[in-house]
Amino acid sequence: MIIHEHFDINENGHLTIGGLDAVELAERFGTPAYIIDENAIRARCREYLGAARCEFGEDALVLYASKALCFTGIYKLAAEEGLGIDCVSGGELYTAKRAGFPAERIYFHGNNKTDRDLSDAIDMGVGRIVVDNLDELAALSREASKRGIVQSILLRITPGIDPHTHKAIVTGNIDSKFGSAIATGQAMEIVKAALASKGIDLAGLHCHIGSQIFDVDPFADAADIMIRFIADIKRECGYEIRELNLGGGLGVRYTEYDREISYTDAIADIAKIVRSFCVTHGIKMPKVLLEPGRSLVAAAGATLYTVGSVKQIPGFRTYVSVDGGMPDNPRYALYQSQYTALIANKADKPKDLRVTLAGRCCESGDLIGENMELQSAERGDILAVLVTGAYNYSMASNYNRIPRPPVIMVKDGEAKVAVRRETYEDIVKNDVL
Ligand code: LLP
Repeated sequence: MIIHEHFDINENGHLTIGGLDAVELAERFGTPAYIIDENAIRARCREYLGAARCEFGEDALVLYASKALCFTGIYKLAAEEGLGIDCVSGGELYTAKRAGFPAERIYFHGNNKTDRDLSDAIDMGVGRIVVDNLDELAALSREASKRGIVQSILLRITPGIDPHTHKAIVTGNIDSKFGSAIATGQAMEIVKAALASKGIDLAGLHCHIGSQIFDVDPFADAADIMIRFIADIKRECGYEIRELNLGGGLGVRYTEYDREISYTDAIADIAKIVRSFCVTHGIKMPKVLLEPGRSLVAAAGATLYTVGSVKQIPGFRTYVSVDGGMPDNPRYALYQSQYTALIANKADKPKDLRVTLAGRCCESGDLIGENMELQSAERGDILAVLVTGAYNYSMASNYNRIPRPPVIMVKDGEAKVAVRRETYEDIVKNDVL
């Protein structure tokens, strides 16, 4: 096992992904390519849903935050596993619809939905629209009234938690483009406005405190603040909030320096806290929703590249360049995210190099990582970057007019194309002049 159990080494000394030889996958599908172990995602979906139902009750729902990895096949998988989904754009809604995802299990997010987004969402029959602010509430109320329907909503609330200090800080994340803050009084204002709006059914509240969080405490702080707020609403408005969506954000192990995390234990810990706060504040336990993205799909993925130039600059560093880079994985350039890399055809050899892994874009910031440990690399080797299932394909671009890699799903010893490789023709298809 390397970092996660579906990454291993076979008798040829090659990396395997979900039991399949990564070097053979690279030969068959070409590089760069995203490889996704379907069983790893399904196992994680079951873990989340099982733990959520066991801890919060049978009506608990897990929503897959589909911005993490988005294509029709993943929506089909989420539907089969009984999950709901979080969509954040017309494009995600459209993809979900094309996949036949049940609309009533769609939660539509976003801090600036256009009127078209809102009317498309209503017409699709999405289960909940997560309303961000007063402007949007008014626009939605207009659209719903025009159609003579009542749309169920959640309100996006900012609890004011900084997940990295895990203290509720009054200024912290209140300064956010998302949601309405409790501390400024705007959250109560939007609750009252929603209750008074035509065509609106206020089902519940939503919060999301951040991403790649390993500690349960910030979720406990958020739950505490949200449940107090639900109690305040009951007292001030005589209205009972039915649903509480605690967002996503649990962390993922990218390198051996990251902690292992048990999602089952984390959910149990959060549930214990939610139950006790409900008792303390005298409110009925709401239907609880969790909204993980990264932790459902990140570990399942790996990206395969072919090594090109290997350049040693004496006294400085060794650059290993691959046939991909920031267009397929912008996360180092954006966030200095750390990954584990290895030479798939030398996976059993010691990592005796320290390298900068570079892409092929015409930009010096086009790096997949620095100071990465790697086996000695030469032109033609297959290089794998592990744990790329989340926010890689979904954030990929055509920078330098580089076609996006395919997404290959592996399952039970078989591999199939889920998203085909883009062609140069795809790259020019919208150029009309
Ligand atoms: N719910 C809401 C409302 C969110 O905004 C997000 C992530 C999630 C759920 C899922 O969070 P997760 O479980 O994946 O942490 N591009 C960045 C991550 C941005 C996350 C944005 N919102 C990255 O590559 O790290």
